[in-house]
Amino acid sequence: MINIKTPREIELMRVAGEIVGDTHKYLIPFLKPGITTKEIDSLARDYIIKRDATPSCYHYEGYPANICISINEEVVHGIASNRKLCDGDIVTLDICACYKGYHGDSAWSYPIGNISEEKKYLLEHTEKALFKGLEQVKSGARVGDIGYAVEKYATEHNLGVVKELVGHGVGNKLHEDPDVPNYGKKNTGPILKEGMVIAVEPMLNLGTADVYLLDDDWTVVTADNQPSAHFEHTVLITKDGYEILTKR
Ligand code: MF3
Ligand code: CO
Repeated sequence: MINIKTPREIELMRVAGEIVGDTHKYLIPFLKPGITTKEIDSLARDYIIKRDATPSCYHYEGYPANICISINEEVVHGIASNRKLCDGDIVTLDICACYKGYHGDSAWSYPIGNISEEKKYLLEHTEKALFKGLEQVKSGARVGDIGYAVEKYATEHNLGVVKELVGHGVGNKLHEDPDVPNYGKKNTGPILKEGMVIAVEPMLNLGTADVYLLDDDWTVVTADNQPSAHFEHTVLITKDGYEILTKR
């Protein structure tokens, strides 16, 4: 069942989304070679709490950190540790916050220092793929339209589309119906309606689309160890388009 949010719920989700977007903005100046992912995770937790929200990822199905931090070939769900960011890395911060029971969810990949041309290419086109997907979003469109647009753009740019992980509805649960895959067929899948809230989140790889799960049972990495990027916004569906709730 796909929830239609009430005006009050939408108001709370705007605040949750704003907190997530602001957490990204707050963290950007800290993303330099030498900082550990644990330090980033603590900064994120403290900031989210200061904004009267809680980090939704913490203890979500047992997840042991506050935000997901994934480096280079790590696709999603990297766990904060004493590892330091290095010049030339790309790092994805996937940040979820809960405000008065409602969630916001946004991932963004960032360059650390000087990165290779191919990593720049990956970042540029994964971000563009997110907006290609979002262009489809409006009342009356179907979930398959989003996946089709993302997959088409990614394929045209020779990037691998991760299929094992998908976007999702967002509300008083972090993951709600519908699933929003980054592949699909036009004119298929659930129909989007005004007042629904979804997270659109392409995860694209420089090499193969294949991924596997590390022994920590969380971190998903690319099968060929090539880098991966991830861009995600939580959006409210409107009559003729969408409103980004996780503005940055
Ligand atoms: N933003 C992530 C997602 O949509 C949240 C992961 S929850 C966690 O999959 F448990 F991995 F933290
Ligand atoms: Co998400």
